[in-house]
Order: sequence, then structure tokens, then C-alpha cells
Amino acid sequence: MKRRLFLGKTLAGSVAALLIPKAISAQDTSFSNKNIKTAKGPVSICTWQFIKANAAAAAALESGSDALSAAIKAAEVEELNEKNTTVGYGGSPDREGNVTLDASVMDHLGNCGSVVAVENIVHVAALARDVMEKTPHVMLAGEGAELFAKSLGYKHTELLTEESKESWEEWTKNSKYKPIINIENHDTIGILCLDKEENIGGACSTSGLGYKMKGRVGDSPIIGSGLFIDNTIGGAVATGMGEEVVKTVGSFLIVELMRQGRSPQEACDEAINRITEKQGVDVDFQVAYIAIDKQGNVGSSCIHKGFTYMHYQNGINQNFEVNKYINS
Ligand code: GLY
Repeated sequence: MKRRLFLGKTLAGSVAALLIPKAISAQDTSFSNKNIKTAKGPVSICTWQFIKANAAAAAALESGSDALSAAIKAAEVEELNEKNTTVGYGGSPDREGNVTLDASVMDHLGNCGSVVAVENIVHVAALARDVMEKTPHVMLAGEGAELFAKSLGYKHTELLTEESKESWEEWTKNSKYKPIINIENHDTIGILCLDKEENIGGACSTSGLGYKMKGRVGDSPIIGSGLFIDNTIGGAVATGMGEEVVKTVGSFLIVELMRQGRSPQEACDEAINRITEKQGVDVDFQVAYIAIDKQGNVGSSCIHKGFTYMHYQNGINQNFEVNKYINS
């Protein structure tokens, strides 16, 4: 698809609002994110309608937490949410019935850590931080990551719930391996926080594609693909079909485009464009990005209508439809 055919549709309007500090009164919930003041101060954005997760990051930021710690707090909410079948406990298993988790983190100093294909550990974003801070490496995989976690006192948890086991057993009757656009409107949680010190940190956590091949790893633990931050410029995170994000090194691309002067919105649009230029717009997978710059301006773009993201600033935690999508 040629660039001139990129006919994105602009959406405005919020779906839900949640106030964080009790002292702040009700706010207009119908404003477009274009009208959000880019006042300095804590900002937290995350993929999908993870209201409680973004609220946890917001509360942490308001009480003075650094950006990375706040982002991990948000990830932990969804990692524990057994109803969320795409992250942590209760995440969908691979085709053999094993739940394997991927996560990454990055801080304002450019430090990063990630874990891939981890079993039996719930809080993999925190584990990725431990890889970053307590090992000389940036990535640990599989059994090695699990052993490292247990050496630090992480508890062994069976991640496959009765419900996700039943869904998987149902799936094995046909074993169809087909991506589902928007995956019931939630997927990987990716969080970007701008803290009171005006530093940016972020995290990603996912169980990856449901019923994936054993050993399949997506974009989320790959620094530059699922997550990238340059504290002088901004940060980006991805959700959706990881293979397509990896092929275009999406999050790094967005930050580099911002470095060249694009706004977070323009940079996200271009990253989606890089995928649809090659694959067309009528693809049966979703990819979405959110990005933030150093001033707290945000952008979001995706292939198909249906992606939403959370935005917290100035006491308001709000869910927005994506700013721009290509296909409906
Ligand atoms: N975006 C998550 C994955 O593809 O694994």
C-alpha cells in the first residue's frame, strides 16, 4: 500500500473515566485527547482498557514513584487478573497447554531487561527489572529465567486456570491457529510513565499469542520492538501481532521518528504505515502503538478500529479510542 493511500480515521471521545486522587472532582469525560493539556507532571498511558492498571501507575506516580516502578505496578495488576487471558495468571497457553510469559522493562537511563517464555511465575515485568538490575545481562529465557526468579524468592504459581484450561481444551477440538483481531479488546499490556522528575520508564507484559507454537516469542520482550525509551525524546510500546512489530522494529522506529521531529501521533501513524505498506490494510491481525514524548504529548495508532488506550494526567484516568486507525 502506498503512503498516499493511508487514509487514517481520526477518533475522539472517551469511553470511561476514573479519578485517581479523591480531592479532584468530576471532570468532563467527553473531551478529545487532542485537548489534554500537556502540563508537566505525571502522565501514565497504557494499552487497552486496563483502567485499574493505569490507576495503579497513576497513584504511584502521584506519590512520587519513579516512572519504571509505576509502570511495573500497572503490569502487576493485569498479571494477577485471572480474567485477562492475554497477560500473566490466566493467560492463554500455547498449543501444548503451557502458559509461557514474556515481559520487558526500560528505564530513563537506557537500562533494560527482559524475560521470555517464562513458566510458573506471575510477575514477569518485575522479574525483567531484576534481570536488568541484578544480572550482567538484558534477557533471560525459559527455565533459566524461572530459576533466577525462584532464587530471588518469587513463588511458583500454576498459571493455567480452570477457565483457560477449558478454553484450551475446546480449542484442541479444531486447533485453528488464527489471529483474532483485537483479541476480545485486550492483549499485551504496555505502559509508559512520565514521572514527577520528568523521566520516562515503561514495561510490557504478555502471555503472547493464544495457542502459539511452543517456544514462540513475540515482540514484547524484544527491546526496540515491543518497547523502547530514550529519555531525551520519548517512549513507545506495542500491542497486537508481535511478528509484525518485530519485522519493523516498531517502538524503536517511533522514538527515532520523534527524534527527527515527528509528534508522537505522526510517529505512531508512520510505524503502522510501515506494516500496511507491505501487507495491505485488509490483514486479519491487529497492531497498535502508543507513544509519549518528553513533554507528555501522546499518540496512538493501529490497523483496525477497536483498539483503546488509557491516559492519566492531572487527576483523570481515562480510556480513549485510538486516535487513528487505517481499516474498519
Ligand atoms: N504482542 C504480543 C505478542 O505478539 O506476543
